[in-house]
Amino acid sequence: MTHRTIKGTHDILPEDSVRWQELERVIHDVAASYGYSEIRTPIFENTNLFSRSIGEDTDIVSKEMYSWKDRSGGSLTLRPELTAPVARAYIQHNLGSKSPLQRMYYIGPLFRRERPQKGRQRQFHQFGIETFGSGFPEQDAEIIAVGNTIFSELGLKDISLKLNSLGSSTCRNKYTKALKDYLTPHKDSLSATSQKRLESNPLRILETKNPEEQKLIADAPSITDFWTADDKEHFSTVQNLLNGLNILYELDHQMVRGLDYYTRTTFEFISGNLGAQDAICGGGRYDGLVETLGGKPTPAIGFAAGMERILLSMDIGRDDAKENTVYMINLVESASGQALFIANELRELGCYVIMDTLRRSLKAQLRDANRIGAVKAVIMGEEELKNKTVQIKDLSSGEQEEIVMNDLVKHFTV
Ligand code: HAM
Repeated sequence: MTHRTIKGTHDILPEDSVRWQELERVIHDVAASYGYSEIRTPIFENTNLFSRSIGEDTDIVSKEMYSWKDRSGGSLTLRPELTAPVARAYIQHNLGSKSPLQRMYYIGPLFRRERPQKGRQRQFHQFGIETFGSGFPEQDAEIIAVGNTIFSELGLKDISLKLNSLGSSTCRNKYTKALKDYLTPHKDSLSATSQKRLESNPLRILETKNPEEQKLIADAPSITDFWTADDKEHFSTVQNLLNGLNILYELDHQMVRGLDYYTRTTFEFISGNLGAQDAICGGGRYDGLVETLGGKPTPAIGFAAGMERILLSMDIGRDDAKENTVYMINLVESASGQALFIANELRELGCYVIMDTLRRSLKAQLRDANRIGAVKAVIMGEEELKNKTVQIKDLSSGEQEEIVMNDLVKHFTV
């Protein structure tokens, strides 16, 4: 075959799009029920938007971005995430002046040049929510509750929530230094990746899967010792609020997340049936980001969830035909105009009407009607046309009745 999708990218075929639409419907409905409005930003942005916000030393910026030099000389990048673009839009359109609290959500494709495997693609999709303006713990609880509601509405089973606080940015910096001081004498026993991270991004070493390193980490200083009194209070209120909402979580003080902009609360929803790529959703506070990008200091928090991973871990129906699907069968070439007209009349009544345009035999069309799960077929042959009638066949019982064409609308009006 000459042309194929690029490694790590996938077509979403018609047979799968029903599941995507169902997922998107739940996202739109739940987001609206919490007062969130949709934002859509461009697929590409200036490269430095991402390097400044996600951090030069993160995996995403250092090796996963699709970037290129534009003809005008600037560097552009296909978005690897959406928090920075949404923060950029928040500043650019001065959204803070329109309302002191902005609640937004998004759905869209993202691009990271990672090694493809189950649940990890180079083009993938996220839905996410972001709020700007509130630094209070009730906002953290609301954000987590939105995710929780969406996942339970989708019937996701076997998911758990991991929760941590990285403290304010000064706390995070002090902790990073303490961790580096602790690990440096053990540098030679670290893996090559962790040795590099020791210089560039020591916190990431906490997430190591290497058993020897995990032992070392067990005795490392803990972030909890670096929280300020305010950090502690904020985090314990978040936990109390989640308890009140009956949202179960597990504290994980080694969860740091792979992006540099986080402060205070961070969290991940993990799926038990996905294998290695088990994070379906990650998020947290990023109180310093708007200011870093040139805006006024603005507390903010959000999350993003991988849609492919959600679909992999759930079981929503595939391509179920709607209850009111009707198959319009016309067996007379010269009456195709009439058949198209009737089909439209039935659509106006709210029916889903499928028509054969291959001029197939009655048998073939009935087979097709059954394949797509139509409930009724409207059949128009020479005889019916002459009598100004149509046959209506109930496709589950097989019963058929002849009705006058003029009564068709009445027949389908419930
Ligand atoms: P993230 O943890 O990089 O966070 O990504 C969020 C989710 O996107 C992951 O939990 C995963 O489900 C999905 N995901 C990430 N990379 C891939 C991939 N290569 N293939 C398939 N799915 C993937 C962020 O992107 C932050 N912007 C989240 C956030 C929003 N924080 C605050 N607001």
